[in-house]
Amino acid sequence: MRVIQVENQGGPEVLSLAERPAPQPGPGQIVAEVAAAGVNYMDIYQREGVGGYGRSLPFVTGGEGAGTVTAVGEGVTSPAVGDRVAWVGPGSYAEQVVLPAERVVPVPSAISTELAAAAILQGMTAHYLVTSTYPVRAGDVTVVHAAAGGVGLLLTQMVKRRDGIVVATASGGEGGEKHRLAREAGADYVAGYNQFRAVVDEVTGGAGAHVVYDGVGQATFDDSLAALRPRGMLVVYGAASGQVPPFDIQRLNSGGSLFATRPTLAHYIADVEELRWRAREVFDWMASGELHVRIGGRYPLTDAAQAQQDLAARRTTGKLLLVP
Ligand SMILES: NC(=O)c1ccc[n+]([C@@H]2O[C@H](COP(=O)([O-])OP(=O)(O)OC[C@H]3O[C@@H](n4cnc5c(N)ncnc54)[C@H](OP(=O)(O)O)[C@@H]3O)[C@@H](O)[C@H]2O)c1
Repeated sequence: MRVIQVENQGGPEVLSLAERPAPQPGPGQIVAEVAAAGVNYMDIYQREGVGGYGRSLPFVTGGEGAGTVTAVGEGVTSPAVGDRVAWVGPGSYAEQVVLPAERVVPVPSAISTELAAAAILQGMTAHYLVTSTYPVRAGDVTVVHAAAGGVGLLLTQMVKRRDGIVVATASGGEGGEKHRLAREAGADYVAGYNQFRAVVDEVTGGAGAHVVYDGVGQATFDDSLAALRPRGMLVVYGAASGQVPPFDIQRLNSGGSLFATRPTLAHYIADVEELRWRAREVFDWMASGELHVRIGGRYPLTDAAQAQQDLAARRTTGKLLLVP
């Protein structure tokens, strides 16, 4: 089978197409034929080896996908051969993957396999951010950075689902596509990265935001912290502009007894019940039409480097998929 592997840490040029033997399921495992694999910023961090994301080389990259079960190992009672499943798991830029049976989730009949691949990782990320990291309450003023991106569009919709107020950021200016998409996702206000603090001030009468969801990282960190009200929470969940450098924890004191956290999905789906709960809710909201998933680009597996380049160059909106 064909896979995309990372042979050395570096730029998109280190991604290469390789042939690997078709995987066989061990006890408790399944093999799935990949219908679509999601492209994520994490794939770029892993390729570059930054932010503690390095892995032993070479490795097959990709962290999520959806497809059809083609084989099950000893002791597996569910899922069965022929079932459609989605997963967050390594080695997904491939024609086939082997996964622990308990870590794949069923794709409901109302959802296409492709949409399941598009939603599983970023949907569960947005889910844990609004339900668990900072549980949004009605009327809370939230900042959602990069709101037209994969996570951003889902996060905006999920904050609105909980009746929060969204001050979104996106590049491209008021008339641009990214601002339009953020507004369509439900953002109450959309601003550029240099304007969002003024909007938060205006909306809150100078009090500040309850929470800032920041996947941009280095470029927005200072303004994100400054946009919070006393006891507000900064959630740095990514680093699209670069990793946040070390900072003086006293800034949380002088900023108003602030909270800062750097969460990651793995710790919010470590438990199988939690994984299933988050996946089920995301898929239920999609099936009921409450959550819209935008597929912003589809690439053949062989164009994985191009997909990653487009993502890093801010040329994309919504979710990018690789189709083997
Ligand atoms: N912690 C977790 O559990 C978890 C899970 C999934 C994803 N994430 C994080 O979520 C963030 C978004 O991921 P995604 O895959 O959905 O990507 P994305 O938001 O679709 O793409 C990144 C966006 O960030 C914005 N951006 C701002 N400054 C940038 C810069 N200097 N370089 C590149 N982009 C910049 C761009 O939007 P504008 O052009 O509008 O500025 C760009 O489109 C990433 O930081 C990722 O690591 C975290």
